[in-house]
Amino acid sequence: MPLLNRLLSLAVLGVSAVPSYEVVNLGGWLVLEPWITPSIFENTGNDDIVDEWTFGEYQDYDTALAVLQDHWNSWITEDDFEAIAAAGYGLINAHQIPSETFYSLNHVRLPIGYWAFAVGSGEPYITGQLDYLKKAITWASNRNLKLIIDLHGAPGSQNGFDNSGHRMSYPTWQSNQTNVNRTNDIIKTIISMVDSEYKTVPIIAPLNEPAGYDGDQMLAVVKQYWYDSYPYNSSTQSNTVELIHDAFQSLSYWDDFMVDGYDGVAMDTHIYQMFSDEEVAYNYSQHITEACSYGSSLADFDLWIFVGEWTPASTDCAKWLNGRGTGARYDGTYSGSTFVGNCTGKTGNATSFSSDYKTFMRKYWEAQVITYEKGDGWIQWTWKAENADDWTYQAGLKYGWIPQDPTDLEYPDICD
Ligand SMILES: *[C@@H]1O[C@H](CO)[C@@H](O)[C@H](O)[C@H]1NC(C)=O
Ligand SMILES: *[C@@H]1O[C@H](CO)[C@@H](O)[C@H](O)[C@H]1NC(C)=O
Ligand SMILES: *[C@@H]1O[C@H](CO)[C@@H](O)[C@H](O)[C@H]1NC(C)=O
Ligand SMILES: *[C@@H]1O[C@H](CO)[C@@H](O)[C@H](O)[C@H]1NC(C)=O
Ligand SMILES: *[C@@H]1O[C@H](CO)[C@@H](O)[C@H](O)[C@H]1NC(C)=O
Ligand SMILES: *[C@@H]1O[C@H](CO)[C@@H](O)[C@H](O)[C@H]1NC(C)=O
Repeated sequence: MPLLNRLLSLAVLGVSAVPSYEVVNLGGWLVLEPWITPSIFENTGNDDIVDEWTFGEYQDYDTALAVLQDHWNSWITEDDFEAIAAAGYGLINAHQIPSETFYSLNHVRLPIGYWAFAVGSGEPYITGQLDYLKKAITWASNRNLKLIIDLHGAPGSQNGFDNSGHRMSYPTWQSNQTNVNRTNDIIKTIISMVDSEYKTVPIIAPLNEPAGYDGDQMLAVVKQYWYDSYPYNSSTQSNTVELIHDAFQSLSYWDDFMVDGYDGVAMDTHIYQMFSDEEVAYNYSQHITEACSYGSSLADFDLWIFVGEWTPASTDCAKWLNGRGTGARYDGTYSGSTFVGNCTGKTGNATSFSSDYKTFMRKYWEAQVITYEKGDGWIQWTWKAENADDWTYQAGLKYGWIPQDPTDLEYPDICD
């Protein structure tokens, strides 16, 4: 039995064989996000360019391709993998896990859109991302990092978010079986591409954040898709773990789902505290209390569970976080929201952050790390952003609210 399968069997039995720690997402690289790289969108001079779909639709092809290629070449390089690895080895040493142990090393989650693999006719996406995915696999392998390939955008959009590639008011992926089949075909393509490299790419997330809150039809399609994209469900055995997303349902909704008879399934849940009027109005101690409150449901969940996105940011102040041209709930500039506070000094460059705010961010970061390790690991969103230091792992390391060694906690009892 391969080591992976043995570890997974233990995990399925609820035995935490080897602690699994994660680090960071490479957001905004192979899928553009207006808030992560606003300059790319501003430079188009066209306010209707709000996502990667319109980036291709409303521009001359050669111009758009040149900008994307420049971005792919520069936004993430091998130096970033080196810095990420350097921010993780302390963790491994602290736990004295031998480096050859399969799950001992740190993971990087890499979002990519379906259009990197197959663009349908009439779809204005520009491709070329695959070469960079391959580079990322090599860079991860060189640094003993593990890569989670995360399909962030599906045909028709699974959530309508700009980060699915195509912003729209209501997603259409789930209402057209051709979309779903195309997505599943791409997952099979990815798996066959990376299966022999499972030591570097042990996990595939077949779909990021399907909008389960849109109702039963969406949820039914999502559940069937989790079954159908399960890599072991074929004549060829795969070593790849399937990381399914909770579709914004409570963890109890997924009790018993793909537990019996399925090795190698893990659950991904994303925890943010700024996308509702109630949470964005929390004071510091309320944010920390809420973070700590997730511990028991994570610890009790029957599949492996990763908090695959979360952040030490506590507001939605980052420019265009809610979409290009859209304001923030925190300062009342988002339609229907009420003013909580001024966004100045909450996002942007950390040189403008007060020491009180940075101390809070350290506490909030530690509260989340402590809590999410009650599950099976965490992956912060995101490694870098042009001008939203509250969100980035890089700025956290630089300005001190993230320790270089992530086990080096200043507030180890913060959730007690
Ligand atoms: C989707 O795939 C399933 C299984 O291969 C097949 O039976 C079905 O006809 C396909 N649907 C469409 C619309 O392509
Ligand atoms: C379903 O989606 C495919 C693209 O994935 C498209 O070609 C087709 O026209 C869509 N069908 C309907 C009924 O919308
Ligand atoms: C295997 O995949 C088929 C469709 O391809 C699906 O209907 C079935 O539920 C899956 N079986 C399991 C055990 O996951
Ligand atoms: C935070 O809000 C809670 C609930 O309203 C309140 O009890 C607490 O005193 C507040 N803490 C601070 C430091 O303002
Ligand atoms: C926030 O404060 C700045 C000055 O520090 C001011 O220019 C801006 O108008 C304020 N914004 C809101 C929404 O009150
Ligand atoms: C923030 O400002 C400092 C000092 O001016 C500068 O060195 C740094 O590059 C800025 N950070 C970002 C993300 O622009």
